Amino acid sequence: SDPSPLQDFCVADLKSPLLINGYPCKNPSKITSKDFFYEGLTQNPNNYDSLGVDLSQVSVNQFPALNTMGMSMNRVAFQPGGLNPPHIHPRATELSLVTEGKIFVGWISTDYVMYWKIMSAGELFIIPPGLVHFQLNVGKGNARFYASFNSQKPGIQILGQALFNVTPMAIPDEVLTKALLVNQTIIDLIKSKFAQH
Ligand code: GLV
Ligand code: MN
Repeated sequence: SDPSPLQDFCVADLKSPLLINGYPCKNPSKITSKDFFYEGLTQNPNNYDSLGVDLSQVSVNQFPALNTMGMSMNRVAFQPGGLNPPHIHPRATELSLVTEGKIFVGWISTDYVMYWKIMSAGELFIIPPGLVHFQLNVGKGNARFYASFNSQKPGIQILGQALFNVTPMAIPDEVLTKALLVNQTIIDLIKSKFAQH
């Protein structure tokens, strides 16, 4: 969904002080084959977070040749029980290939219908742009999928964090208690969990 390129390539100059929508191009005279290949996913997942997920993003910031190409990838690896918690991508549709394990994939439409499947290696799923989705490893072993996005920088916003752990100030308690239909004690408890997280 990103704008179409007007040239063969525009490898991002991530250090440029110019502020534009995307990144300015590196000087084409400095471009070599190396710019168009990314080896970061040759390393096995080894950086699992507290929810048992290793998320390796390959957006324009990791792979500058993606600048203006309107595409990017993530590798998402799970330990047993690992959860990629409910989140959205503000700028992209997600098309993913499961390569290992058994993964409960769900997403929620704007009519609040959940579409879901327990997925195995070789299967694909599609998440419409901007909608809430999650993945849970429900198998006995590790699990993995590779996500592709139609944006060089899809962005990710995790719902729990957006509600309970933001700066420079928290969402007012009156907003949270009314929106979530619970009392202050429960809000305080969840906030304290996210603060330690
Ligand atoms: C998976 O949903 C991801 O965003 O990588
Ligand atoms: Mn996603």
